[in-house]
Amino acid sequence: MFYKRSVIFVSSLFRKGLTCDITRKMSSERYLVYITRSDMPECGVELLKKQCDIKMWHKPSPVPVDEFKKSIPGVNAIFCALTDKINKEILDAAGPELKVVATISVGYDHIDVAECKKRGVKIGYTPDVLTDATAELTMALLLSTSRRLPEAQHEARTGGWVSWAPTWMTGPGLAGSTVGIVGFGRIGQAVARCIKSFNTSKILYFNRSEKQEAKEIGAIKVSFDELLSESDFVICCAPLVPETKEMFNKSAFEKMKNTAVFINTSRGGTVDQNALIEALKKNTIRAAGLDVTTPEPLPLDSPLFKLKNCVILPHIGSATIETRNTMSEISANNILAALNGTNMPAELK
Ligand SMILES: *[C@@H]1O[C@H](CO)[C@@H](O)[C@H](O)[C@H]1NC(C)=O
Ligand SMILES: *[C@@H]1O[C@H](CO)[C@@H](O)[C@H](O)[C@H]1NC(C)=O
Ligand SMILES: *[C@@H]1O[C@H](CO)[C@@H](O)[C@H](O)[C@H]1NC(C)=O
Ligand SMILES: *[C@@H]1O[C@H](CO)[C@@H](O)[C@H](O)[C@H]1NC(C)=O
Ligand SMILES: *[C@@H]1O[C@H](CO)[C@@H](O)[C@H](O)[C@H]1NC(C)=O
Repeated sequence: MFYKRSVIFVSSLFRKGLTCDITRKMSSERYLVYITRSDMPECGVELLKKQCDIKMWHKPSPVPVDEFKKSIPGVNAIFCALTDKINKEILDAAGPELKVVATISVGYDHIDVAECKKRGVKIGYTPDVLTDATAELTMALLLSTSRRLPEAQHEARTGGWVSWAPTWMTGPGLAGSTVGIVGFGRIGQAVARCIKSFNTSKILYFNRSEKQEAKEIGAIKVSFDELLSESDFVICCAPLVPETKEMFNKSAFEKMKNTAVFINTSRGGTVDQNALIEALKKNTIRAAGLDVTTPEPLPLDSPLFKLKNCVILPHIGSATIETRNTMSEISANNILAALNGTNMPAELK
């Protein structure tokens, strides 16, 4: 067959005693799947192992590009994460036997979608399932930023806590405030539902298209500029598309209240990071909480880490145990279905 013996070293372990529901046409050989991480959640990997041969990068860190290219000639499927760039180079390295790329993420800006389409390579992703987890994290980040939890914890641990004090460690509350949500898709709406329970006075949203769900939530559609000038909390839940690229730039931060708290849990790229650093330094806005940065990981010497009014999380939006397991299972089923020629649970079309 076209792939070398060395490529299928893992296969003998799983081959015995298992029925092959999906096998390559014209042969009894099993499909070969490359997994870019050693720590993809087990449940998905186990699903694949039952029916396919697996080759896997042996570390829990991203596979280096050279290693990636060396490992994939002849594979039928790639199970990847948002840290793996799937571009022309990688698709060329994989070759014509590649049928499907499945990413364990809802975002797909790391995949050259047009190039995949051109080659008839299907793309699987994991929409919907991480909505609740991301909304939870957004709330956690918002409250951590407004109520200054990391700073307070640091003070408590390092002797800064000398007595109760009336204005010490105070921050703005959600009750009675106006919250603006940019990007009112599934995640934006889930965040709005959580926020409402904090007795906010108004929820505004900006989205090009009118959202049916807004009425039931009680959110009001406004222009981007109105949202910026009226909101006490500005939350970015927009995907990174050409229209949202660096929409949070210098002029956007200047339009915000100087008491505003900015929360960003979408994708690096929707924010002009230098403009944000300036805005935080000059108190153009009060504080920011970020779960996504450019680049990722953010270098230790980034000025953002030096700012007390900035809370930075290492892109853990979807990191609930349940959600990551579900994402892994969907990715595996995306691969199995694509190889089998049946409908994928979540195909990016
Ligand atoms: C909610 O907010 C309104 C006005 O901002 C206030 O009158 C009311 O007491 C608040 N309710 C609760 C339960 O905090
Ligand atoms: C608004 O909604 C559309 C489709 O529902 C979505 O594609 C778009 O990215 C959303 N966000 C913004 C900022 O317009
Ligand atoms: C910021 O972005 C807006 C469009 O969203 C643009 O009109 C404006 O010129 C930009 N400002 C700066 C300082 O880049
Ligand atoms: C959020 O902020 C970071 C840091 O400024 C920026 O790089 C990124 O593009 C923004 N988008 C999100 C979702 O973080
Ligand atoms: C493969 O396709 C057949 C029908 O063509 C279906 O019965 C079977 O369940 C599929 N298997 C997988 C793993 O999708």
